[in-house]
Amino acid sequence: MELDSAIQKRKSVRKFNLKKKPDWRTIIECIDSARFAPMAGNNYTLKFILIDDEEKIKEITESCHQNFVSESKYVVVACSDPSRTVNLFGEAGKVYSRQQAGAAIENFLLKITESGLSTCWVGKFVEEQVKKVLGIPENVNIEAIFPIGYNAETLRTRVAKIDLNRILYFNSYGNVKMKKIHSTE
Ligand SMILES: Cc1cc2nc3c(=O)[nH]c(=O)nc-3n(C[C@H](O)[C@H](O)[C@H](O)COP(=O)(O)O)c2cc1C
Repeated sequence: MELDSAIQKRKSVRKFNLKKKPDWRTIIECIDSARFAPMAGNNYTLKFILIDDEEKIKEITESCHQNFVSESKYVVVACSDPSRTVNLFGEAGKVYSRQQAGAAIENFLLKITESGLSTCWVGKFVEEQVKKVLGIPENVNIEAIFPIGYNAETLRTRVAKIDLNRILYFNSYGNVKMKKIHSTE
């Protein structure tokens, strides 16, 4: 799949085909793509936990209060241990750790799309509860939860995306016009 196509096709899916179980090796390939994201000082802080234990998926679903999570046969939890970036960069390391998690997660999401699988970034959950279920240490931040499956949503129009002119400024914040280009340049 072309990059542009994967970027545009990626969408959040909250209803999965219960009869079709993904191959966990495909999910591993998607996680593998996250290794190639940029990392401050080349320090990799992100970890992925692949879960197929039904009881754990049920408990994670309860911590999210979002029932669709339990419809998936696999759940991926992404978490960051910021200790190395904090050692290197001090307070800024905490921010870098969260930022590089986002960069790596987008790689993962695009690969999920390319593989024909679907997911939804779930950011609302009770962190302490999920940590308990998965034995995640206290100093590790849970970034997001991803229930994975095959799309069973009826076709709907894509969520309207923000116009480019609402996110792009030139030379200073709030300036929406590019400097006039002279014909001699
Ligand atoms: C940080 C973050 C947290 C999110 N948390 C949730 C969530 O808890 N539950 C949910 O259903 N969707 C969640 N989403 C998905 C967004 O609702 C979704 O990306 C947005 O509506 C745009 O739709 P799209 O992903 O199909 O483009 C989250 C997305 C992000 C980036």
